[in-house]
Amino acid sequence: MNNSTLLMKPSQQNLGLSGADFSVISWPSWPQYSSEELSAVVRVIQSNQLYAADEVKGFESAFAAFVESNFAVAVGNATQGLHLALAALNIGVGDEVIVTPYTWISSASCILMQNAVPVFCDIEEETLGLDPSKLEALITEKTKAVIIVHMFGYPARVHEVRDILARRGIPLIEDASHAHGARSKGDLIGSIGTIGVFSLHQRKALSVGDGGILVTQDEKIFSKLHRLRSFGDEELSYNYRMSEFAGALGAVGLRKLNSQNENRRSNYNSVVSGLSASRSLQVVKPRAGDYAVFYAVLLRVVSEIDDLDARLSRLQALGIPVRKTWGLLHKHPHFNPVHPPARGVPWRDFGYKGRMSGRVFRDEELPVAASLCPDRVLELYVHPPAGVEHMRFAVQAILREFD
Ligand SMILES: Cc1ncc(COP(=O)(O)O)c(C=O)c1O
Repeated sequence: MNNSTLLMKPSQQNLGLSGADFSVISWPSWPQYSSEELSAVVRVIQSNQLYAADEVKGFESAFAAFVESNFAVAVGNATQGLHLALAALNIGVGDEVIVTPYTWISSASCILMQNAVPVFCDIEEETLGLDPSKLEALITEKTKAVIIVHMFGYPARVHEVRDILARRGIPLIEDASHAHGARSKGDLIGSIGTIGVFSLHQRKALSVGDGGILVTQDEKIFSKLHRLRSFGDEELSYNYRMSEFAGALGAVGLRKLNSQNENRRSNYNSVVSGLSASRSLQVVKPRAGDYAVFYAVLLRVVSEIDDLDARLSRLQALGIPVRKTWGLLHKHPHFNPVHPPARGVPWRDFGYKGRMSGRVFRDEELPVAASLCPDRVLELYVHPPAGVEHMRFAVQAILREFD
């Protein structure tokens, strides 16, 4: 697809638009690969070495340097990465791990993979990440880790959380799957906690099809992650290796990432100015001093809107990548199983007597998350090569639908 203005003029009646002529723009797809990725893949085939070797090692070194971390371990995807992080921190049966309910399933299902018990902490309005003021009340002697998620590339309050945990010797995992290159207080997201985990899934800002990468400053943790990733001899280990294709693609993508993040930022700025007068929508802004990377620009719905789904469908029919955000995980069947898995669920079995025993996840009170998700937050994707004219188009169409 290219960026040129499209010829089609949908009827205003279908689109619910009124007023002047409204032409449609074609929205470029993400990701887009070039001859550089093509030659990287060809190089791998010609090498006759397809599973993890030098391409993966090269990518790991480059990524560790990019995130200003001492070590990186590449894996098959971020879900494996989150599981590996918990395993490397010796999280096991009956341990509690605190996580937010507003995130992708993997940020919390990884806890079940270790037969540990998720404890959901509410989010805060500003960053939509974990609310540090609600954290301390949830910590018990069973709390063995916290997972903080930087939603859609907006840095969460990671330093505050790290400091609360440091006083108690509790490790912090950053799920940085949306936040490659983001910074909080100048520090790179992913490098602030004990372990950072990034997704490199097809749709992510650094995209290799399926892939993930962990970073840490701690050599002991690195050695353990390394052993557990690929058939370590000493303890239960996995095959969570990355392929050479993914390593080669990751190295190319990494070289483009900073300038693409700048494009996203400039698109965000266009959306901010375009929607500044909106009475229905407010652009979510990163905290002052933080550098967000806008995996998506988030919009808060601040007035009563009927037929939200229909309005969004009309915008999507114009090609605008906007949608309602995710529902909350504590309501998800994985945490409220009608058919418990064969090994049972850790908070009901294994003799666990802790914070979550006898409680039902779907009944947890998480008022801020419940007031926002999924109907009060919209995701608008602003990946390059979409640029100023796409943002102008999107803003105009969104204003017509919402204001
Ligand atoms: C916040 C978050 N964490 C983890 C993951 C899992 O990533 P992967 O698909 O690489 O397993 C995703 C995927 O969308 C995600 O959005």
